[in-house]
Amino acid sequence: MMHADLATARQRLDRTGFLDLDVDPSLDLVAEINRLKREKNAIILAHYYQESEIQDVADYIGDSLGLSQKAAQTDANIIVFAGVHFMAETAKMLSPGKKVLLPDLKAGCSLADSCPPHLFRKFKEKYPDHIVVSYINCTAELKTLTDICCTSTNAVAIIESIPKEQPIIFAPDKNLGAYLVKKTGRDMVLWNGACMVHEIFSHERIVKLKARHPKAKFIAHPECEAHILDLADYIGSTTGLLKFTINDPAQEFIVATEAGILHQMQKASPHKTFIPAPPNNNCACNDCPHMKRNTMEKLYLCMEYEQPEIILPDWVIEQGVHCIDRMLEISEKAGLGLKG
Ligand code: 13P
Ligand code: SF4
Repeated sequence: MMHADLATARQRLDRTGFLDLDVDPSLDLVAEINRLKREKNAIILAHYYQESEIQDVADYIGDSLGLSQKAAQTDANIIVFAGVHFMAETAKMLSPGKKVLLPDLKAGCSLADSCPPHLFRKFKEKYPDHIVVSYINCTAELKTLTDICCTSTNAVAIIESIPKEQPIIFAPDKNLGAYLVKKTGRDMVLWNGACMVHEIFSHERIVKLKARHPKAKFIAHPECEAHILDLADYIGSTTGLLKFTINDPAQEFIVATEAGILHQMQKASPHKTFIPAPPNNNCACNDCPHMKRNTMEKLYLCMEYEQPEIILPDWVIEQGVHCIDRMLEISEKAGLGLKG
């Protein structure tokens, strides 16, 4: 590859989001990525929604809580985040002295985008006596306006840790918020945001699928809408769903979340059958277009050239990290610490 190509690709990063360079198709990407990990003391943290090849080359695969716990604890010099932008930002806030790389800076999140900080600041002013609990799926700047973060694994424990008389704003996911209101009995003010992936499951198609597979358990992520959750035998975070499929005696599961998680489900229970819940379009399953922007080629390039890198202003790190630290403390006390 020509040096000039690299210089141009770097200049274009703002527009492309990734290093737009050709990768030799004969290159053994798994071997190259493993070599770069060793040479650079880098760790790859991957979310369950990444494509299966990326999951297989990662050092740690987990849900949003596990990934943030791992990012806080690692002694690697470089954290390579195979996930979306807010996850890499969270890792940077927790480990500001480390280099945090994201294979594609445009791997965003519709939930994070649905809550612009300048609008949320105005909204918050209307409720001066409320504290703010934000789902971790929000921008670093929104975290500076947040008292406690949560993920889908610890959300109930976080809400229950707050005194009953203390009013709460919950942002940005109205579906997770509505689920938490029902589950905890707390009447929270909800921001009107949603995840584009979890919002488009088809009630009608799921009901038909359940009728065709009467022995299958239907399991769903709490980012789904209430009418989908009402059909579920079990509701949980991606880690919760994975554990459920391992421990439950059922042999067949219909899974309402991003389809990437099926890779670990199938690996953990090779004799069980996993059917992705259908969305309300012609597709059979539901992929997150942001998560799936990361590819093995982009992962290799970002490790080789150490770009794109997550850079945050100091004030954002200083003001935003408290709500994540608070979340990690409460999770630890609730027995939701990192195992293994
Ligand atoms: P969890 O990782 O908490 O299950 O959340 C799923 C998700 O949508 C991440 O973007
Ligand atoms: Fe965001 Fe939804 Fe994609 Fe998760 S699945 S990254 S919440 S858009």
